[in-house]
Amino acid sequence: MNLAIIGAQWGDEGKGKIVDLLAPHFDIVTRYQGGHNAGHTVIIRREGVEQKFVLHLIPSGITHAGKTCVIGNGVVVDPRALLHEMDELRGQGIEVSPSNLLVSNRAHLILPYHVALDRAIEASRGGNAVGTTMRGIGPAYEDKMARRGLRAGDLTEPSTLAEKLTQSARQANRLLSVLGGEPIDEKMLIEDGMRWCDLLSPHICDTTYYLNRSARAGRSLLLEGAQATMLDIDHGTYPFVTSSNSSIGGACTGAGIPPSLISMTIGVIKAYTTRVGGGPFPTELNDSLGEEIRARGGEYGASTGRPRRTGWFDAVVARYAVMVNGLNAMALTKLDVLDDLDEIRICTGYRINGHETDQVPYDAGQMSAAEPVYESMPGWREKTVGIQKIADLPAKARDYVDRLSELSGAPFAFVSTGAERNETIISADLLGRYGLQLDI
Ligand code: IMP
Repeated sequence: MNLAIIGAQWGDEGKGKIVDLLAPHFDIVTRYQGGHNAGHTVIIRREGVEQKFVLHLIPSGITHAGKTCVIGNGVVVDPRALLHEMDELRGQGIEVSPSNLLVSNRAHLILPYHVALDRAIEASRGGNAVGTTMRGIGPAYEDKMARRGLRAGDLTEPSTLAEKLTQSARQANRLLSVLGGEPIDEKMLIEDGMRWCDLLSPHICDTTYYLNRSARAGRSLLLEGAQATMLDIDHGTYPFVTSSNSSIGGACTGAGIPPSLISMTIGVIKAYTTRVGGGPFPTELNDSLGEEIRARGGEYGASTGRPRRTGWFDAVVARYAVMVNGLNAMALTKLDVLDDLDEIRICTGYRINGHETDQVPYDAGQMSAAEPVYESMPGWREKTVGIQKIADLPAKARDYVDRLSELSGAPFAFVSTGAERNETIISADLLGRYGLQLDI
C-alpha cells in the first residue's frame, strides 16, 4: 500500500504531523518536490521528554528507527542546508546515515548563487514580490528547466565537478551583475563543492530504481508532499506560487514512480486557512480575529518565522484540491484552534465582479477580486484538545467537521486535535478500505 500526502491549501497545513503519525506503518518515506523552503514540524515524546523537530529537506520519517528516507529527483537540494539538517538531527539523537537517508542522483542542486539570485529577483519585483523563502528554490528550478543545472549525481564525480561549478558560477555572476546582486566567489564554491562530495556521496544513488524495485518487492512507500495545491506552479495562484508541482502529479515525476503505484492520496487541510508571502487570499481576516487565530494557532513560518496570514476555511479551495489531486480522503488539522469562537464561517463560493462562482479562477487578479460568499455556523465553545474519538467531539464541532467534508467532497481520515501524535481522531475503517491497517 503506497500513500501520498498532499497539502490542500497554501501550505503549513500540518503535513509533518500526519506523515510522522503514518511513518511507522510504511517502509520508505520519500520527499518528491520542493526544497528546504518547507518546514515540517514534528513533536514527539521520547522516554517521557517532549522533543520538537523542524524538518526542511529530510523526510519526516527520519525520526523513526528502521525507516528509509529518500530525497527524490524532483527535490532541489541545497548541500549546505542538507548537511546542517543532518548535523542537527544527529545532535538530537537521531541516526542519519547512508543506510537510512538516500538522495537521488537526479535531484538538482541549489548552489549559493541561486540564493543570491532569489534575493536579487525578489528585490527587482518591488511591490509585486512573491514573498519567497529566499532559499534559492525558484532560480534552481529555472536552471533545471533551462537544462543547465547541476545535479546531486555531479557530487559523486569530483574529477569534473570543479569545471562544472566554475562554468555555472560565471554564468550566474554575469546575471547577478545585471540584477545588482552579490557575485559568488568561484574558489570558495569549488572548495565547498569538494567537501560536499566527501560528505554527501555515500547518500547519493539512483533512487528511481530503488523506489520502483522496493515497491515491486512489497515494501510500502509514503510520499511526503511539501507546500500545497494552491502553491503549485501550474495549479496554484500563479505567479504567487512556488516553482514545483506540489499537487499529485509531482509525486510521480518527482519520485520516478507510475501513478498506478499510488494506492491512496490524502490531502491535509486546516480547519481555517493560512498563507505566507504575497498573493490572493479571498477569506483573509485582516482584523483582531485574524490575529487571535494566528496567536492561538502559533501561525508563524517554520522555515522563516514570518507571521502567517489567517482566514476562514475556503471550501472552493478545498473542492479544487480534491479535484486536482483526486483526494480519496483528507486530514483536518488544528480543529482545537477554533474552540473559543462564537461563530465560524465557511466560504462556499466567490463573487467576482458581480458574478457568483464555485470555481477557483485561473488568474491571480480575479482571485484577488473574489469576495467570499459565506455560510455561518455556531462555535462549540468547548475544549477539543486531545480528543481521540469522533463521538467525543462536541456536537457543534462534529457538525462543523461534517459540513467541511460535505462541501469539500471528501471524507476525513484524520481529525487532528493537538500537536502530539496521539491527539488525533483516526478513521481506521476508511484507511482500511484502501489497504492501510493502523493498529489503534
Ligand atoms: P519559494 O518556494 O521560496 O520560491 O516561495 C514561493 C511562495 O511559496 C512564497 O509565497 C512562499 O511563502 C511560499 N512557500 C514556499 N514554501 C512554503 C511552505 O512550506 N509553506 C508555506 N508557504 C510556502
